[in-house]
Amino acid sequence: MADITVADLDENSARAELAALAKALLGANAKYHGRDAPDISDADYDRLKLRNSAIEAAFPHLKRADSPSDQVGAPVQDGFGKITHAQRMMSLGNAFEDEDVADFVQGIRKYLGLGADAPLAFTAEPKIDGLSLSLRYENGRLVQAATRGDGAVGEDVLANARTIATIPDVIEGAPDLLEVRGEVYMSHADFEALNARQTERGGKVFANPRNAAAGSLRQLDAEITRARPLKFFAYAWGVVSEPLAETQMGAILRLKSLGFDTNALTACFETSARLIAHYRKIEQMRASLGYDIDGVVYKVDDLAYQARLGFRSTTPRWAIAHKFPAELAWTRLEAIDIQVGRTGALSPVARLAPVTVGGVVVSNATLHNEDYIKGLDGKGAPIREGRDIRIGDWVQVFRAGDVIPKIKDIDLEKRAAGSVAYDFPTICPECGSAAIREMGDAIRRCSGGLICPAQAVEKLKHFVSRGAFDIEGLGAKQVEMFYHDSNLTIREPADIFTLKARDATQLTKLKNRDGWGAKSADKLFDAIDERRRIGFARVLFALGLRHVGEQSAALIARHYGSWGIFLAAMDASAQKSGAAWDELLSIDGVGEVMATSLVTSFSQAAERASILRLADELTIQDEAQPGTDSPVTGKIVVFTGTLEKMTRAEAKARAEALGAKVSGSVSAKTDILIAGPGAGSKAKKAAELGVHTLDEDGWLALIAGL
Ligand code: IVH
Repeated sequence: MADITVADLDENSARAELAALAKALLGANAKYHGRDAPDISDADYDRLKLRNSAIEAAFPHLKRADSPSDQVGAPVQDGFGKITHAQRMMSLGNAFEDEDVADFVQGIRKYLGLGADAPLAFTAEPKIDGLSLSLRYENGRLVQAATRGDGAVGEDVLANARTIATIPDVIEGAPDLLEVRGEVYMSHADFEALNARQTERGGKVFANPRNAAAGSLRQLDAEITRARPLKFFAYAWGVVSEPLAETQMGAILRLKSLGFDTNALTACFETSARLIAHYRKIEQMRASLGYDIDGVVYKVDDLAYQARLGFRSTTPRWAIAHKFPAELAWTRLEAIDIQVGRTGALSPVARLAPVTVGGVVVSNATLHNEDYIKGLDGKGAPIREGRDIRIGDWVQVFRAGDVIPKIKDIDLEKRAAGSVAYDFPTICPECGSAAIREMGDAIRRCSGGLICPAQAVEKLKHFVSRGAFDIEGLGAKQVEMFYHDSNLTIREPADIFTLKARDATQLTKLKNRDGWGAKSADKLFDAIDERRRIGFARVLFALGLRHVGEQSAALIARHYGSWGIFLAAMDASAQKSGAAWDELLSIDGVGEVMATSLVTSFSQAAERASILRLADELTIQDEAQPGTDSPVTGKIVVFTGTLEKMTRAEAKARAEALGAKVSGSVSAKTDILIAGPGAGSKAKKAAELGVHTLDEDGWLALIAGL
């Protein structure tokens, strides 16, 4: 093609050559970004690009809408190529209340100057919670696919879009130029299967289907995208060489006839009341759709009206998204399971038909306790107007922040005729011991103690958790495995520290077992040995005694200073009277309930023996007592940035053990800021305030030997 100089080209051959160049260059881009081997060299690529620019300079009116010169710096080194949208991709204004919808309709009537009786129709359709994509078809062929990006410039994901089954490569009977816009999403079922596969392979687990869809579409290796089950709903369009239809509904039907998936819940209505009724219907169906939606979009049906209404800076005047209330969703309660915790508490857990609440798929929620299920609060007063919760009920789930989902309400109208009230077990489902509810306690507890496998396993899980022994390579999963192992078993904390010695006597060594090897077994034994020397506060917290949390354990440990003194104090307090008992109660933060829990644990023969077996395996280090002279006693310290030598929890515990007060924010009162890599605003503020700042090593040097 470069045989003729540009000056000698006529218009027809220039147009033809630009088309050929676009095809070659865009194809090379796509291959490059898809990590397929590009079929031309970089030098050839540059030569074609130059030729393209030269022809465009000579024939500016022939410059194509998909001109390769508008595509930034291809082939790029990494990431995706950028695509400037021929028509901006807009977002939508939001409506939250019914009145907002009525205002929207009224506003449009007013803008268009329509009288109250003039017909005005709107479409209403689900707002899919995925990511938007613009597909460009030229002469029926898919030539470009771009993410929304900032609305003006998106990313070139053509190779990836081509792997999506519901995006046709070729369409027939379409306008010569057509940009189809819509949403890429992942169904709940596919999302769960993907996460299960990812878990198995130790890959990234996605928080919700939207993240999974975005992560899957934005893969530099299109083969990864191909293996991810993405889908596409078409609901809008960008540039078109001729109108698709006269109405929104007509255009959607046209897209459907061209082979695109369109949403079956799209319907047309004439009043805001009807729109809202459709919204309510879709809201009720939300849990059973099998994919995430976060509202309903209303659009003026008449495309001539749409054109008149036009756009504000980033949103169309002719459309609005009626969002679902945040973090609330209806779904069906499929079962109630009872979980037994480390302190024996029987916790009812709702098993739900999966539903997305605030962007996260929820299939479990807490039901708190038996009274909550009955519709009573802690004092026996009615909640939910006394409505109880039954298996099979439609329940409203909510999430506040990051906490475990809860059930807010139930829909009595949807209750099945033969439903029966839930019968809370009075026997531990794990060990069969009586589950007892003491006076004044909202919680029913298994009385089995350590004979209850659920309690034992939960206690062990707590024991190895982060703030506690935090043994690398020994997490909840391994604890579960060792607990049920008949040869190399871990039934109580002390067993962890005899694991290596016991393994040595086994016929089949750990290293020869499934999922283990010499390296991983040795690593585990080393990690266990590393924890034989451990601070008193950590040990006390790790025991997982009822009411004794991390903070309380630290306070108590600091008060007594050493394990030996503490043990003697527990023995002396066994009768819950006398000087030792009074001293225990005098500790700031220790009340009668906690003190009783402590003393009881150390006086019950089995539990005491188990604790002492553990202590025998350890070297429990003393905790510095407050008042001891340390350069950090009474100082207010703040940690920020990444700590590399210890966890944040550990650093905090250590500082507190030395009598420092650890605060989360920098103020004029702060004495020392310990700033690790990545420290940001706190370090800046500290500098402004002239707060003494140390790095992690500086801090460790300061407290060394204390
Ligand atoms: S119409 C000019 N319809 O919501 C209006 N958008 O918040 C173009 N979305 O960026 C959008 N479902 O990604 C439209 N049925 C639907 C939609 C929908 C999901 C997304 C889209 C858009 C965002 C705006």
